[in-house]
Amino acid sequence: MKVGIVGGTGYTGGELLRLLYNHPKVDVNVVTSRREVGKEVWKVHKHLKGFYDLKFVEPDIKNLEDCDFVFTAVPHGEAMNYVPELLEVGIKVVDLSADYRLPKDVYERVYGEHKAYINAIYGLTEIHREEIKKADLVANPGCYPTGCILAVAPIARYVEKVIFDCKSGITGAGAKPTEFTHYPNLHESLVPYRVTNHRHYWEMVQELRRFNENVIVHFTPHVFPGSRGILTTAHVFLKEDLSEEEVKRIYEEFYENCYFVRIQEEVRLSYVRGSNFCDVAIFKGEDRFVIVSAIDNLVKGASGQAIQNMNVMMGWDERLGLEIPPLFP
Ligand SMILES: NC(=O)c1ccc[n+]([C@@H]2O[C@H](COP(=O)([O-])OP(=O)(O)OC[C@H]3O[C@@H](n4cnc5c(N)ncnc54)[C@H](OP(=O)(O)O)[C@@H]3O)[C@@H](O)[C@H]2O)c1
Repeated sequence: MKVGIVGGTGYTGGELLRLLYNHPKVDVNVVTSRREVGKEVWKVHKHLKGFYDLKFVEPDIKNLEDCDFVFTAVPHGEAMNYVPELLEVGIKVVDLSADYRLPKDVYERVYGEHKAYINAIYGLTEIHREEIKKADLVANPGCYPTGCILAVAPIARYVEKVIFDCKSGITGAGAKPTEFTHYPNLHESLVPYRVTNHRHYWEMVQELRRFNENVIVHFTPHVFPGSRGILTTAHVFLKEDLSEEEVKRIYEEFYENCYFVRIQEEVRLSYVRGSNFCDVAIFKGEDRFVIVSAIDNLVKGASGQAIQNMNVMMGWDERLGLEIPPLFP
């Protein structure tokens, strides 16, 4: 199958290229950039030298028409300029931006005007697999919501309140350097930001309220001075008393057919790095459960999950191209 990537110079675009190289049913035929038209893909992604002979082309529909499937890996507010045209010419799309993750009114309250709204399926594969099978447009989840929702979904119906405390590597902010990501501003530091008003909050509420419309959600993100990974510590207060054994059994059953979610006794970012796994560990405290999850934000939090969704949309085994052991240590 011929695949295109819109936004191929970015971190998630580069990660799509890395992962799709090993996909048995896919060839990447088109990679776009506005800034690097005509340049070899490997000259921007030097770690991919020897893997691709492609050159970047303009993100123009004419260049993408021959594709069967396209990933849009551009900032929110920009994907909406490409997605409707792609769907119109019969191309299936996974959009990695926020443009199609929320209902229009919520999107406009959180992100601003939406010029080209279309209903999409929210692409948290483990929760929406059956709808994704029939979808032409899948909205890939945000990186934080992926780790948070997977940490709590199995017991969401028992939850009164959950507090998500998340730590992310800096690739979550994209490839363009800023003052926030500047080395001396982050090095040997840990930085809380958007402490009570991060936009990903709305996805968490949307998805967890599918299980329990009264669940109360709090979320605070931090950045640590590493490149990959999101560690989520979820402090979960239940409405009723459940034993540790009961909760563990609920998780095992919920994720029974989910290859990419692993219940572990111990969770570390280094156990999932470079892979599409979400590791989850369960601890019982006096008045709460603490559920810890770990993902690689560029893989399960973005490009890996996007490929997992493509596999499901195409009716293929969702593991295709993604059975990669994590890079440890
Ligand atoms: N980084 C993560 O961990 C992560 C996780 C989940 C979701 N996401 C989402 O995935 C998307 C891509 O993220 P990223 O981290 O890869 O961003 P990035 O590193 O900043 O890359 C953005 C890409 O979009 C292209 N681009 C920007 N504006 C464009 C426009 N108007 N038209 C066409 N192309 C445009 C850029 O290419 P040129 O300038 O060369 O054209 C670049 O290739 C974002 O929506 C982000 O929120 C990111």
